[in-house]
Amino acid sequence: MVIIVSGNPATGKTTIAKKIAKEKKLEYIDVNDLIKKNRLYSYYSKKDESLVVDTKKLNSFLIKLINKNKDVVLDSHLTHYLNPKYVDMCIITICDLKELKKRLEKRKYSKEKIRNNLDCEIFDVCRTEALEAGHKVKIIKTSK
Ligand SMILES: Nc1ncnc2c1ncn2[C@@H]1O[C@H](COP(=O)(O)OP(=O)(O)O)[C@@H](O)[C@H]1O
Ligand SMILES: [Mg+2]
Repeated sequence: MVIIVSGNPATGKTTIAKKIAKEKKLEYIDVNDLIKKNRLYSYYSKKDESLVVDTKKLNSFLIKLINKNKDVVLDSHLTHYLNPKYVDMCIITICDLKELKKRLEKRKYSKEKIRNNLDCEIFDVCRTEALEAGHKVKIIKTSK
């Protein structure tokens, strides 16, 4: 079973992905780690304060990985760009804005980055993109 866990930063992807992997006896895959180790990015954006990922490279890397191991939970906000034919379940984590702001501040992100991440949650970016890509989406709220 291939499960992807997407969602905006600090909404609870890693927490949920690890929990599901344990429960369903699947391998947990830290996609951000894969991106760094395999240089699946194009450059570092100072403006966005993050690596700009080459999603084409990432997709083909993940497809190869899935072809070898079909019992995985993939943790990243970029996994929903995968073609739904490779994916059995797409989980999107969401979080209440007040709680999310607290979590982002804890990460010591800049004011701009916090603002941008909150805007992404307000505009439901990950859920919208996942639905547009054709995934069967399951929402998990990680706040009260
Ligand atoms: N269900 C939850 N209830 C309470 N706190 C949570 C929950 N899920 C995540 N958190 C907290 O929110 C923060 C961000 O979670 P994390 O799983 O790292 O998010 P992401 O991987 O999406 O960036 C962590 O401090 C984590 O402990
Ligand atoms: Mg994470």
